[in-house]
Amino acid sequence: MIRLHVHPDKATAVRAVAADIAALVRARAAEGRRAVLGLATGSTPIPLYAELVRLHREEGLSFRGVTTFNLDEYSGLGPDHDQSYRWFMQRQLFDHVDVVPAETHVPDGLAKDVAGSAAAYEDAIRAAGGIDLQVLGIGRTGHIGFNEPPAGPATRTRQVHLDELTRRDNASFFGDVAKVPHHAVTMGVGTILDCRRVVLLAWGEGKADIVRRSVEDAPSDDCPASWLQRHAACDFVLDAPAAAKLARR
Ligand code: GLP
Repeated sequence: MIRLHVHPDKATAVRAVAADIAALVRARAAEGRRAVLGLATGSTPIPLYAELVRLHREEGLSFRGVTTFNLDEYSGLGPDHDQSYRWFMQRQLFDHVDVVPAETHVPDGLAKDVAGSAAAYEDAIRAAGGIDLQVLGIGRTGHIGFNEPPAGPATRTRQVHLDELTRRDNASFFGDVAKVPHHAVTMGVGTILDCRRVVLLAWGEGKADIVRRSVEDAPSDDCPASWLQRHAACDFVLDAPAAAKLARR
């Protein structure tokens, strides 16, 4: 079931999500257990990471007891490439908080044994006890992580081919669409559905159509995000423009 949370703007929305994450991290610390966060990249979660850094600096939120798993990574880009998702996570969050570097995981875009590396990623998530809360954005193709359509609940971490619309949407980060990789490694839709909580963020009118399809159309591999309707605890946190085409709000 998808619970909808519509905020007037993304600043208000990310404050609510960051407070939720902080509560989880503190609750786990009080229990003496690690909190396991699933993290996303793209432009959408940037203000969320800024708010988490602020909570660390100004309100003493510690990430020492946090383990993280990122959704995806471009194939062929190493951690020193400024468009790799490892680089993104270091600059947006990890370099600014007290997370233990060895407790941060991003799929290996350079792995020679791609299938073995993907299986090891699934094993590492399981060994950590599963993901408590997974943050997601959404692509205009309906992708979550880099699960381009068609993709359904049977998919696990693997290498995928990127849709041309996704490559064009991400071209601004690379400066030129020709530089955007054609492949990526991503957690599967099934991997995401196994997370105990899922929080999908979407901002702006450009996401309104795909948000509506994800929430209101019958789940289908043609819109991988629509499978989130089958999750027991999934929140869509939206700003007003991203929610504008929903029948119910
Ligand atoms: C990217 C990422 C996704 C992200 C989506 C939307 O390519 N792989 O995890 O949610 O596309 O990106 P943005 O947040 O920039 O709109």
